[in-house]
Amino acid sequence: MKDVYILGIESSCDETSVSIVKNGNEEIVTKTLSQIDIHKKFGGVVPEIASRSHAECITIVIDEAITESKLSWDDIDAIAVTKGPGLAGSLLVGLEAAKTLSLCHNKPLIGVNHMAGHIYANSLVDKMEFPLICLVISGGHTEIIYMNEDLSFKKIGGTLDDSVGEAFDKVARVIDVPYPGGPVIDKLSKTGKPSYNLPVPMDNDSYNFSFSGVKSAVINLVHNEKQRGNEINKEDLCTSFENIVIETLTSKTMRAVKEYNVKELLLAGGVSANSGIREKFKELCEKENIKLVVPKLAYCTDNAAMIAACGYYMFLKKDFSDYSLGINPSLCLDYKES
Ligand code: KG4
Ligand code: ZN
Repeated sequence: MKDVYILGIESSCDETSVSIVKNGNEEIVTKTLSQIDIHKKFGGVVPEIASRSHAECITIVIDEAITESKLSWDDIDAIAVTKGPGLAGSLLVGLEAAKTLSLCHNKPLIGVNHMAGHIYANSLVDKMEFPLICLVISGGHTEIIYMNEDLSFKKIGGTLDDSVGEAFDKVARVIDVPYPGGPVIDKLSKTGKPSYNLPVPMDNDSYNFSFSGVKSAVINLVHNEKQRGNEINKEDLCTSFENIVIETLTSKTMRAVKEYNVKELLLAGGVSANSGIREKFKELCEKENIKLVVPKLAYCTDNAAMIAACGYYMFLKKDFSDYSLGINPSLCLDYKES
């Protein structure tokens, strides 16, 4: 079969990213403009600023990706773009750019679910083997997904309140560390001791999670200590919080891996960049003799390579969209029984 080159566009939050991926597993080029420095002073992403910044940058990033790839538009087989979930204004910029490219260069248009993209970041590491379990942990999602074939996503558990990324970011805010908080907590927790007593969330037989309790416990603890005039040991608090998160995520996910008797476990999403989470899963999977695949660090957080990789599998199924394709800020992963 002829090689297939998919150009992917990702603009669902605060990264303007364009990538070209060959045959779903070989990254030719990825160009990403991060807006983190712009949003840092506000302590989080400001949607209006994000969409304006995407609009200013998108054509520049597309041009850079094509130029660096040394490919021509004739070589590109399809345009894949994130259609949701994400920020409405930000998604619209990527989608309009993709439709324009599709129309001008006469290429099929593929609308990709951002969460499916996170999962397919793993296909840039190794070919996926089914059935598998994927733990999706990002700023907006915390889900255990079962897949028995490509593009079939069955949710077997998820958070009932906050996502794990949200919990990281809120804990970071209350201890005054800069946005985005996850990577800073990751670093601080390396040198701390788990000396703070925090509640273990949803310690039961379900595959669901709840992170609002532990998040509120951290917030209350910090406020109470401040009122008493006591100093918080940030490193110790980060270690205590992260240990609880790691324990909850690993115990439920490893139980699902065994119950569903899968060939491999994947991690996906921004929080899968967390070194403590990666190490603990590596240790447990080695012990249990289970194959673990984790995305490269650069593909954990938002990027267009994962959108192009997922787009390749949709291309094989001819899962194309026409120009009526719209964005869906609260799009879910859907499951097709085969
Ligand atoms: O997947 P992502 O880039 O965006 C969404 O689709 O939501 O995930 C962003 C989330 C943020 O909450 C960020 O704090 C978290 O991923 N994150 C981390 C780490 N790196 C990013 N959380 C914990 N440890 C990290 N090293
Ligand atoms: Zn994401």
